[in-house]
Amino acid sequence: MYDFKGKTALVTGAARGIGRAIALELAKGGASIALNDVNAEAGAEAVEAMKQAGAPQAKYYKFDVSVASACDEAIEAITKDFGGLQILVNNAGVSRDALLVRFKDEDWKLTLDINLTGAFNLMRAAGRIMMKQRAGAVVNIASVVGEMGNAGQAAYSASKGGLIALTKTVAKELASRNVRVNAVAPGFIDTPMTQALPEAARTKLSEAIPLARLGTPQDIANCVAWLVSDKASYVTGEVVRINGGIYM
Ligand code: NAI
Repeated sequence: MYDFKGKTALVTGAARGIGRAIALELAKGGASIALNDVNAEAGAEAVEAMKQAGAPQAKYYKFDVSVASACDEAIEAITKDFGGLQILVNNAGVSRDALLVRFKDEDWKLTLDINLTGAFNLMRAAGRIMMKQRAGAVVNIASVVGEMGNAGQAAYSASKGGLIALTKTVAKELASRNVRVNAVAPGFIDTPMTQALPEAARTKLSEAIPLARLGTPQDIANCVAWLVSDKASYVTGEVVRINGGIYM
């Protein structure tokens, strides 16, 4: 159990899946939670779940991370509502998949705008606050395919590879102000994103994983909580692979 008392965390794409598990784990440690998603319906229930888990305060901010002005406004509102922002988890992500020669322009743009530019928008806005505070921890949720590539995922793998490079650059820029920036690269995790795959594809995937199972959102949340905690105070610019051994 970590001690996040007195800290505020923003987790994007937190209505379900990995983002929700991360937000709950931080709430368990006593962090106040700013939840973000584009999905409006999930808000009230998610806020209640965070409070039940241990968050002294929780609030839902509906905005699209790919819109820079919305990110600036949200960071301003969160800092005002909670009195600061110490933890940012860029988790919101989408995948639009097709083979390269059939890839649609709009799918390429949408994927890059959300997965890569979204994290840039929020790190730029939150970075200003964290640098002034001389304290902050950011985790970007990348992917195993950002390191190893995957046929049929041109935009997704490029966005996640870009996110890893962005993580390292921002880590170098903010380190002198005591702001740490890391990435985690999940393998195949059992969430609505992968539940959309046909059963045969899921079975084939599990067989290729040395630990012989898909990961759980909790597997990712455990690592993110450690990375943003003081226990990882000498870790920055790192990419932690959580993939059951599928890529080493
Ligand atoms: P998910 O699809 O279950 O959840 C993603 C959430 O992000 C959804 O609630 C969605 O509404 C939200 N979102 C989408 N676009 C948004 C936007 N523009 N602004 C704000 N919120 C937005 O996905 P999952 O599986 O929980 O994935 C979370 C992160 O982990 C993503 O970045 C994904 O790429 C990454 N990841 C997932 C893996 C998996 O196997 N499930 C593997 C590797 C990485």
